[in-house]
Amino acid sequence: MTGRLITFEGGDGAGKSTQIARLADWLGGLDVPVVCTREPGGTTEAEAIRGLLVSGESDWDALTEAMLHYAARREHAEKRIRPALAAGTWVLSDRFFDSTVAYQCYGQGVAPEDEAVLRRLAIGALRPDLTLLLDLPVETGRDRARGRQKSRYEEMNDELHLRVRAGFLEIARREPERVAVIDAGKDPDSVAAAVQAVVAGRFGLS
Ligand code: TMP
Repeated sequence: MTGRLITFEGGDGAGKSTQIARLADWLGGLDVPVVCTREPGGTTEAEAIRGLLVSGESDWDALTEAMLHYAARREHAEKRIRPALAAGTWVLSDRFFDSTVAYQCYGQGVAPEDEAVLRRLAIGALRPDLTLLLDLPVETGRDRARGRQKSRYEEMNDELHLRVRAGFLEIARREPERVAVIDAGKDPDSVAAAVQAVVAGRFGLS
């Protein structure tokens, strides 16, 4: 039995890491073997690329930026995700390729055809079995981030973040069988319950 790949997406401040931990606990309680990981990152090499993208101050060309995300994603897919799935482990990833479509294509203007070329080259046919989009108004995400150190992306302007949110919602509209939209404005317990309901329904767990 191969494992399942479940990805969490959404703007900054949507509570993805909290919800991933909650889902991992719940799946663990059902004796499902789980690993949690993140993008950009998830391996030593991909975490090194993350440092360039997330905490650096560089002003990358947008296609270069997408290529760096895909370089990190290939490392992650080859060394972490595929081996775990082959061993029957479920992989919960904080972000995956929908983030590149939302941030680099919708947000920063990379052509969708170029993203498709990079995706095929980097990860072939690897696709999430399920994507949970934690959706939140941009202002709410910004309020939640107040007081802590911001990443390079969080420092970007509201117009970009509005395009990113619209991009994520458009992906969900186009692929309703893969992407479930969760209202991340609710309290963490309600969001966790909504996430569990979707996962239970999709994979026949209870
Ligand atoms: P996070 O781990 O705090 O979510 O930060 C990762 C940041 O990287 C986030 O602001 C979104 C951005 N990002 C992209 O722009 N493109 C991508 O493909 C990925 C995976 C992340």
